[in-house]
Amino acid sequence: MERTTIKQEINISESLMERINELLSHYPSDKKKSALLPVLHAVQDAHDHWLSVELMDKVAEILEIQPIEVYEVATFYTMYALKPRGKYPLEFCRTSCCMLRGAEDMMDYTCNKLGVKENEVTSDGMFSVHGVECLGACGYAPMLQLGDFNHEHLTKEKIDQLIEDCREGKIDLV
Ligand code: FES
Repeated sequence: MERTTIKQEINISESLMERINELLSHYPSDKKKSALLPVLHAVQDAHDHWLSVELMDKVAEILEIQPIEVYEVATFYTMYALKPRGKYPLEFCRTSCCMLRGAEDMMDYTCNKLGVKENEVTSDGMFSVHGVECLGACGYAPMLQLGDFNHEHLTKEKIDQLIEDCREGKIDLV
């Protein structure tokens, strides 16, 4: 049976295109691929913090590279999300130091508290829980990252407080 692929048309906003062009201006015009990482960040930030296949294809088109070159990068780094995330994505480091200091317990506790599995979004769209690689704060293990901020020396009480603060709108993600 013949398969039909329906591709969703992606529109890049004028302001995002301006941002992409500004990023591209830092690289030689025949080396657009060099801007792939920052361009993916910009596109992700402008599209609810995750990258659909259609968006990655659009990035490939803009940078004049093959889509597979974008997929390879986007699937390698955990800072790029390939599925929708909660408004507050809780990213737990589970590399060695954090692992030894109870990262899995903290993550399990959070998943149970929120009623989700890893990489799932709560039904209210507020939270998602993710396991990521070392976030460079090994001396403060176990830790999680939320937006641009680290939350360190995690305990169950700290996680309870963080979730409550998010629900009350007290946490600024930027
Ligand atoms: Fe967790 Fe480095 S091992 S921050």
